[in-house]
Amino acid sequence: MKYKVEVAIKEDEIAKRVKEIADEITKMYENQSLLLVGLLRGSAMFLADIARKIDYNKVDLTIDFMDVSSYGNSMESSREVRILKDLEEDVNGRHILIIEDIVDTGRTLSEVKKILLTRNPETLRICTLLDKPERREVEIDVDYIGFKIPDFFVVGYGIDYAQKHRTLPFVGKVVEIK
Ligand code: IMP
Ligand code: MG
Repeated sequence: MKYKVEVAIKEDEIAKRVKEIADEITKMYENQSLLLVGLLRGSAMFLADIARKIDYNKVDLTIDFMDVSSYGNSMESSREVRILKDLEEDVNGRHILIIEDIVDTGRTLSEVKKILLTRNPETLRICTLLDKPERREVEIDVDYIGFKIPDFFVVGYGIDYAQKHRTLPFVGKVVEIK
């Protein structure tokens, strides 16, 4: 497929929204410890930016990463979730905030949530950069949403198409060229 990438969400819009969400997270977890759980690899940029905007004088922050299987090299959603890399940190008794790039069908997060809940966290919340509500197949409560977007394929700011475009500083829309 021949395609081009058009800017959908600009760098400064992302930065502004990241700061707003980080402020909410700071308020929610003030004087507490919080473990941010990033889902590799898509959430890496978002986690790095949001973590540095959470007030370090108010929240005692730890980060960790988990990798689960989701999309292959196609634009189709896979149906099954496997742990490719598990957390290093203990979840038991801790406040956990999952950081995700996109909630699409909701299957990945609902599975990850199930897995982490079996480890008895004190609280478990979800934060996603992007949400595609039209595509939802399973119900999932998302506590923090960066941007709601329609059903189009995006890349950039951590998000890939066949492992490409993750390092773009903006979120772009993939547009097919005929
Ligand atoms: P879900 O299980 O269908 O919610 O899938 C969520 C995952 O699919 C996200 O973490 C992304 O890795 C991937 N995904 C969904 N939409 C897109 C997209 O537009 N571009 C790239 N990856 C996507
Ligand atoms: Mg993903």
